[in-house]
Amino acid sequence: MQKLRVGVILGGMSSEREVSLNSGRNVYDNLDREAFDPIPIFMDGRGRLWVIPWQLISQNTTTDITERLEREARRISYEGLKEEIDFAFISLHGKFGEDGCLQGLLELLGLPYTGPGVLASALGMDKHIQQMILKAAGIGVPESVLVREETWRADRAGTIKALCERFRFPLFTKPPREGSSIGVTLVRDEASLVQGIEEALKWDKAVLVEEFLDGKEFSSIILEEGGEPHPLELTEITPQSDYFTYDDKYMPGRCRKFTPPKNIPPEAAEAIKREAILAFRALGFRSYGRIDGFYLADGRILITDPNSSSGMAPSSFFFEQAACAGMLPAMIISRLIENALVIHRGKQGPL
Ligand SMILES: Nc1ncnc2c1ncn2[C@@H]1O[C@H](COP(=O)(O)OP(=O)(O)OP(=O)(O)O)[C@@H](O)[C@H]1O
Ligand SMILES: [Mg+2]
Repeated sequence: MQKLRVGVILGGMSSEREVSLNSGRNVYDNLDREAFDPIPIFMDGRGRLWVIPWQLISQNTTTDITERLEREARRISYEGLKEEIDFAFISLHGKFGEDGCLQGLLELLGLPYTGPGVLASALGMDKHIQQMILKAAGIGVPESVLVREETWRADRAGTIKALCERFRFPLFTKPPREGSSIGVTLVRDEASLVQGIEEALKWDKAVLVEEFLDGKEFSSIILEEGGEPHPLELTEITPQSDYFTYDDKYMPGRCRKFTPPKNIPPEAAEAIKREAILAFRALGFRSYGRIDGFYLADGRILITDPNSSSGMAPSSFFFEQAACAGMLPAMIISRLIENALVIHRGKQGPL
């Protein structure tokens, strides 16, 4: 019998393409060869797809891969993807990969894939809209204001005044649709507010200004199985920097994570997992997701960052929490694929 051809899609057009390369190569390396036939599919910076020889995924950067594409890889059309693979394991992060764009293409092609559908993926990427939905569902979120670039350019002084009246310092500024802490700034005073806003506007057409949460940060991986979302064990994050920065996330040995949490009591951890499930459902997530947030000293649980995908490097939350549940990377990857196949078989219209 022919094995399911699993396309591991990596690279992409977003600011997180290097992170994607790390995730994708780890997924590729750990895919169970007995059950699946893994095919590395590279999306270049212009959104073009290539079937690449496996040797290329061990390149250090997406630039190294891109330079060798013409000679060593095979360009395929979007429609041609259907001839190459039976299933897409989406290892892209950020815009165009995690936000519903690629999911839309896969729906048109009739290819099943990991993670939520078009709408939920778009919601998972947009911190402003997702907060509105979570709030309406009675889920705690931080206080925030969205400042559009036009508003900011038209009246900087007025915008700063309004923000200073609304928030106390420190506060956070962030692009609404990024990941890996890209464009995020911890703003300590009025003088640095301009810088924080301008940094976020390098990445998007608006900036989300958010109250600072002083508490324990957590991350909860949710897996859908048998039609129900199930949380894995919770992870507590203790960043080495003032907050969980890009370097904290990806530099080896940089940041300590505790699975299960060390400084969050077990009852609170259970309550957090229940809240994470509520957020997963409220946003219409399917397949899997990663719900991040804060546990405050007064016992409140606030959800700051529900993600419709997760980093999948060796030391990611995803594999750390899977290990805690006794699953090797290959085991959880297989489960994710098998569950996604069931989900896509049961859908009516796009997921
Ligand atoms: N309101 C807040 N209060 C305190 N810390 C915050 C707040 N918002 C963000 N942070 C810190 O900044 C980090 C990055 O922010 P956030 O999770 O919103 O960004 P992201 O880029 O979507 O991250 P991810 O890579 O997890 O998807 C968080 O992990 C947290 O440490
Ligand atoms: Mg995020």
